[in-house]
Amino acid sequence: MRRFFVWAHRGASALAPENTLAAFQAAEAAGADGLELDVHLSHDGVPVVLHDETLDRTSDGRGPVAELVLEELQRLDAGSWFSAAFAGEKIPTLQEVLCRGGRQLRFNVEIKDSAAGKAVLGLSRSYPQASIVLSSFDHDLLYQLRRRAPQLPLAFLWEQPDWAAAVERAAACTAESFNPRFDFLSAELVAACHQRGLAVYPWTVDTFARLQHCWQLGVDGVFCNDPKQLLAWLKDL
Ligand code: G3P
Ligand code: CA
Repeated sequence: MRRFFVWAHRGASALAPENTLAAFQAAEAAGADGLELDVHLSHDGVPVVLHDETLDRTSDGRGPVAELVLEELQRLDAGSWFSAAFAGEKIPTLQEVLCRGGRQLRFNVEIKDSAAGKAVLGLSRSYPQASIVLSSFDHDLLYQLRRRAPQLPLAFLWEQPDWAAAVERAAACTAESFNPRFDFLSAELVAACHQRGLAVYPWTVDTFARLQHCWQLGVDGVFCNDPKQLLAWLKDL
């Protein structure tokens, strides 16, 4: 049976508000293999989990995340924008997400704010190395992390059509994977990555047609917003 890794993108973000504990619980309940999440730093230097640089889209706060201290951030409602059923969901800290109980899942921690790199690395050292992969679009940051932690699992994110030089850079950094935007996925990209020992995890895959395409190209797994639906589709391939 072929191994195909299912990453829940921002948690099960089609089923619950993205990057909240509710979304991570929903992903686990659905049977995802791993949780993807995004990290910024609070004003007082704590890694917190949300996607945007500003609070406006996914909470009742306003303005840049980096201007509020943790206590202020944790007073915000990060669930009502999605649905009243999730009113009162909080912006979690990275530590809260990593130490949640339940089934053993892998964490894909995307560092959105490069200033958070050092704190995220420090925190990740408290957990089994294989359970966390650090990812970023900031490849200089990934190289800095590699110099500090030679064994740390790293993933290169990519969202441009011209991928060849980036794949070489990911291999030279000894990343474990190259994670392209779905639109730029091709048989050539997959072959180049696999030749260099890089796994390929495209994002995001939320239709059966996209999943079928990924499967046929031989990728190692995908990021999806609805792991429940994706796992059901996988049975039909
Ligand atoms: O990890 C891949 C993907 O999450 C990158 O895009 O915008 O969803 O953080 P974005
Ligand atoms: Ca992300």
